[in-house]
Amino acid sequence: MTAASRYLWLLVLLGLFIHCSEKPTETIVVPEEKWPFRPPSTQPLDAFVMSAAIGRGFNLGNALEAAVEGEGGMVIQDHYFKIIADAGFTSIRLPVTWSAHSMTVPPFYIEAAFFERVDHVIQEALKNGLIVILNDHHFDELNADPQAYKGWLIALWEQIARHYKDYPDELYFEILNEPHGEFNTHPEWWNSLAAEALAVIRNLNPYRMTVIGPINWNSINSLPTLELPKEDQSLIATFHFYDPFQFTHQGAEWAGEEAQSWLGTKWSGTLDQRNAVTAQLDKAVKWAEEQGRPLYLGEFGAYSKADDNSRYVWTDFVARSAEKRHISWTYWEFGAGFGAYDREARAWRPLILRALMPGG
Ligand code: GLC
Repeated sequence: MTAASRYLWLLVLLGLFIHCSEKPTETIVVPEEKWPFRPPSTQPLDAFVMSAAIGRGFNLGNALEAAVEGEGGMVIQDHYFKIIADAGFTSIRLPVTWSAHSMTVPPFYIEAAFFERVDHVIQEALKNGLIVILNDHHFDELNADPQAYKGWLIALWEQIARHYKDYPDELYFEILNEPHGEFNTHPEWWNSLAAEALAVIRNLNPYRMTVIGPINWNSINSLPTLELPKEDQSLIATFHFYDPFQFTHQGAEWAGEEAQSWLGTKWSGTLDQRNAVTAQLDKAVKWAEEQGRPLYLGEFGAYSKADDNSRYVWTDFVARSAEKRHISWTYWEFGAGFGAYDREARAWRPLILRALMPGG
């Protein structure tokens, strides 16, 4: 080393020393809110407490479960979460058709841009203090042929579970919306596939709340066929409720031509009508008690083609009856065909809001 280079080194070292010992002279800028806010729990959580925390919420339906967001009638806007939280709601369920945004053959990679969009929506909801139940919606191929496509579902959950493993406990997973089709004749296929998907989730998300419902579109009548992995205590059982279907789905374009002939069906809450609802809910509660599992009503709602008064009476009755039985719920859905919120008028539909949130 020449004398000049030794001198240069000395200068570099001196510079480093000065730099490191330098005290900040300016005010420290608080970095932008770091993501994730909080790491997930390293201890098991109480599934009953976590299920109760869902409270009252909305499905953000008709958005991310369309092949392209917007084609289902709705694009999720960031400010919706504040509107929802400000009205007193505590959760959202996020229907997502992952299979429409992944490769259709192994390794079934999910599009990076789609993940980014879902991340953004989840983060906006969590920032507003809402619990998020992230599902896998409209997996038509799987329902039509579970044996051929089960590997696809497993690959999706492998990626989703890895992607969200550091998210806070307020993000819940739901393995599959409304298993139906071939699952209806083979409930054991659904039980074993759900267990397999759960095992994949548990590798990196040991205590994340995970929601599982029965075949037949998550029908109460099929709860007895549902077998949840016994040793897993971080599970919430779910069901959907649209009875009487001729009332809730009158005029629904996706419910077949017959649904047009149901237009005009009313629901005024006669004793018989109310008993029919509570008998079903009691069946669900009995099953859940026997199983030692918390219950969550993931979807219920009456389509906007029904008259407003009937919708109000039915929605209010179902919501209150669920609450009496300690069943948390998410209404189907926020801002489209069943919508509680009128996105054009930028206002809640007062009757639906009042049915969901008395005094709201
Ligand atoms: C289910 C369907 C959804 C439909 C809703 C009400 O969640 O997946 O597409 O709008 O039920 O019928």
